[in-house]
Formats: sequence, structure tokens, C-alpha cells
Amino acid sequence: MRAQRHGGKRPGMVYFNIMVTKVLKIEDPENVSPEMLEPAAEIIRAGGLVAFPTETVYGLGGNAIDPDASRKIYAAKGRPSDNPLIVHIADIDELEAVAAELPDAAVKLICAFWPGPLTLVLKKRMIIPDATTGGLPTVAVRMPSHPVAAMFIRTCGLPVAAPSANLSGRPSPTTARHVLEDLDGRIDMVIDGGSAQVGLESTIVDVSTETASLLRPGEITLEMLRGVVPGIQVDPAVTGPVADGVKPKAPGMKYRHYAPKAEMSIVTGETGRVREKILELAAEQEAAGKRVGILAAEESAGSYGRGTVRSVGTRADEETVAHNLFSVLREFDALDVDVIYAEGFEERGIGRAVMNRLRKAAGYRVIEV
Ligand code: TXA
Ligand code: MG
Repeated sequence: MRAQRHGGKRPGMVYFNIMVTKVLKIEDPENVSPEMLEPAAEIIRAGGLVAFPTETVYGLGGNAIDPDASRKIYAAKGRPSDNPLIVHIADIDELEAVAAELPDAAVKLICAFWPGPLTLVLKKRMIIPDATTGGLPTVAVRMPSHPVAAMFIRTCGLPVAAPSANLSGRPSPTTARHVLEDLDGRIDMVIDGGSAQVGLESTIVDVSTETASLLRPGEITLEMLRGVVPGIQVDPAVTGPVADGVKPKAPGMKYRHYAPKAEMSIVTGETGRVREKILELAAEQEAAGKRVGILAAEESAGSYGRGTVRSVGTRADEETVAHNLFSVLREFDALDVDVIYAEGFEERGIGRAVMNRLRKAAGYRVIEV
């Protein structure tokens, strides 16, 4: 700021370009207008970066057809540039401009789930630069349902590339405060539209190949997808670690994402035995002078009596568990625990997405009892 105020550059001085991240607060997301979002849209059109709320998590937006904007996104996040960005559109008519082909499965999924938390991988058009897709011939496209996201993209008047608005390796942000924790001073603006409803990133389906496949589970579950396109396969990276030297279809799957600072392990099995095992492990760690965090369901959270316990919600409501997961992981970072033990959740419906994120956060350390 100082250098800018002083105007002309003086020899021998080092000039820094310090950015101040503005916050644009939207009081009522249901009643947002283009005028309110114009300052944010102007930043995007000028090649800058704006974080914005979506129904899944907050995204870090930039002009998807400007390779320099994409490069800025990678730099702000500290993200490897071979991990492609999702291109967000506001209206179905814009799809033709970014995707070269629309296979049958894509049409069916779009009719059933757009706008909403579903991303489709399609063959890309030339207009989408390699910097946005990490050099891939395909592009991931999503049309969010969040009223602020939709109005923001529409006001920009161009497709918006947006990964989750966290530093690479940190849990995805579900509030504007989370975004600022990671990116304050690194981006131009954050639009604060309250807490993201779903709390986990979108479901990703690759429809660019002969057989459609699920690359990342999310709120739109495998069961729901197969209700529309029965033949959908599950990519191996969804459930297991990606072996060294193997190229996963979604390049992001090979990185250790959503990682809390403490080493985390998941304990799975019958709930009573899981609780006993976690208590035993926690006692060992505490005896060794370690601070222990326990990520539990509401049903058992009150019964541990040791460690720092955080509930992610009741097992009866997997949507709430999904919504709270990243927030709780960030809380453990702030609490500075040394190790975390997480109770496992059932692998069905959204539980599949919860376990996918937990396994990645735990670096695939799973203890079965
Ligand atoms: O809910 C969401 O999807 C959020 C919000 C902001 O829309 N975005 C998000 O973006 O989660 P990000 O960058 O954190 O995750 C994008 C994932 C990565 O795993 C990436 O590898 C994959 O999508 N991806 C992007 N383009 C792809 C492509 N052409 N082929 C395969 N995977 C792709
Ligand atoms: Mg991400």
C-alpha cells in the first residue's frame, strides 16, 4: 500500500505489492441483486480473484478464460498447477461455449441435478485455456444453485474458474471466516453470504468417456446418480489411496487434502467397540504426554471423559455430519491437539462422501476393530 501511495518509484527501494482483502457482506442471500455484486464482478473482469459462497463450500473465483487469472488462483492457494480447476456457469446456455460434446449421460444428469452440487467432466473447447484444466483435454463444469453464486457468475458475464477457497492441503472453507483464515491478503475480495449449506465439495462425475464414472462422492449420492444413469462406475481413487506412479482421473485425488495439522486415524467397526478402542488409544497417547482430539458422533461424544471431544452431529442425520465435518477439522487445528481419533461413519448415501474426506484427511490410516 505504502509503495502505491508514494507514487513514483525511487531507486534502491524494494516495492511490495501488499493486497488488502475486502469483505462484501450479503445480509440476505435470497435477496441479492446484480448491483450488490457489481464491485466483485468488476474485480473478476479485471483479472482479479474473489472468493464466493456456493451451496457446497466457498470457491476462489477468477476468469476461467484468462490463463493469468488461473495462474493467480494456483499461486494464492499454493496449489500444484497440474490439479485442474472447476469452471462455474450460471445458465445452461453457457455450457455450449465451454464443452465440446454433450453425451447422453450428461444430458440426463444435468436435467436431474442442475443447478446443484454436481460437477461434470466433459471434453473441453479451445476457449478454456490449458492453465485452467492443468493441460487436460477435458473441463469440469458446475452450475451452482446458491443464489449468491448464481447471481455473481451471471453478473461477471463469463465462466468463473473456482477451486475451494482454502490454502492447498487445508480443509475446504464453509464460511467467509474460514476463507480469511487461509487467504487474507492473498486475494482481492471475499463475498460473505453466510455458511455453505452442504459443507462438502460437489460430486464429480466423468462423462467424457464411454462409461461414466464417479470421481468424487458428494451430496448427490451414487444411489441418486445410478437412479438416472444406472451404469455409473466408481473410480478406485474414491475409496483407496492412489498408488505411487498411478495417474488418477481427478488429479486432485492424489494430494493429501483436507488435512488437519495433527496426525489423524479413523477407527471403524461396531460403535461400542470403536469407543473402547479410541479410549484405549487416547489413554496411551496421553500417558506419552500428547494432547488428543476425538471426532465423534453426537450419540457417543458425551461418553469419552478424556481428550478434547468434538461432535459432528447425530448418526441419524448424515447431512448434518457432512455440514459440520470441515469446521470441526479446522477447530482441531486451532486447538493445537497432537493426534486425532475419528469415529468412522457408514459408507452409504452421503456417508460415502464423509468417509472419503475423512480417509484423505487421515492419510488413509484406518483402524478396524
Ligand atoms: O463444490 C465444489 O466442487 C467446489 C465449489 C467451489 O464449486 N469446488 C471444488 O474445487 O471443490 P477443487 O478445485 O477444490 O476440486 C476440484 C476437483 C479436483 O479434485 C480436480 O482434480 C478435479 O476436480 N477436476 C477438475 N477438472 C477436472 C478434469 N478435467 N478431469 C478430472 N478431474 C478434474
Ligand atoms: Mg479443494
